[in-house]
Amino acid sequence: MTKVAAFIFDLDGVITDTAEYHYLAWKRLGEQLAIPFDKEFNETLKGISRMESLERILALGGKTDEYSTEQKQALAEAKNADYVSLLVDMSPADIYPGIERLLQTLQAQHIRIALASASKNAPMILQALGLTDYFEYIVNPDDLQAGKPNPEIFLRAAKALGVDPQACIGVEDAEAGIEAIKAANMFAVGVGTPAVMQAAGADYVVAQTSELDFTKIIAKFALK
Ligand code: BG6
Ligand code: MG
Repeated sequence: MTKVAAFIFDLDGVITDTAEYHYLAWKRLGEQLAIPFDKEFNETLKGISRMESLERILALGGKTDEYSTEQKQALAEAKNADYVSLLVDMSPADIYPGIERLLQTLQAQHIRIALASASKNAPMILQALGLTDYFEYIVNPDDLQAGKPNPEIFLRAAKALGVDPQACIGVEDAEAGIEAIKAANMFAVGVGTPAVMQAAGADYVVAQTSELDFTKIIAKFALK
């Protein structure tokens, strides 16, 4: 039986509530561009890079060709400035329930820990939350050829840690993220609506992070 060697975490919506801030900032930009969208469409943006998210919003509004590359760059930067302004008061109090307990347990069990977030803001957010030292490796999204649902980000994390993907557990809140974990041949823990996470291929689902229990996850992994 394979022994679990590493946990690879997504950040936004798993470690802290920044998925909601991404939604707010994109929604505001969408309204400025006269492209309103709802939470359901927002689900398709989760885990997706900044530029690709903008492209999806423009495509939704049928406005893909209305902006030059430079203008798209400026729009993406404006969204990011708005997003970052929502993070100014971020502190360890914003860590989702159960996350630090899980990180502490993993450390005590000598299970390796890495971050596979599409966000260029991830290192700054981990710092603000006081969690940086738990992470042995943080994938730099600028190094990627393809974003989630491509498995590259999770495979890079496993490679950097020197562990077999089959001995890794990925934790995600996005459909694209769950698909990426499965395509990397890892065990996928989904945080969110069970039907949505299961449809994306999650092996084990919890509705909220407070339910992330090390012993339970390991038991489910062993059954696979
Ligand atoms: C992902 C989020 O983690 O990071 C997406 O789920 C976001 O919503 C993406 O667009 C990129 O983040 P950033 O901070 O680089 O714009
Ligand atoms: Mg996420």
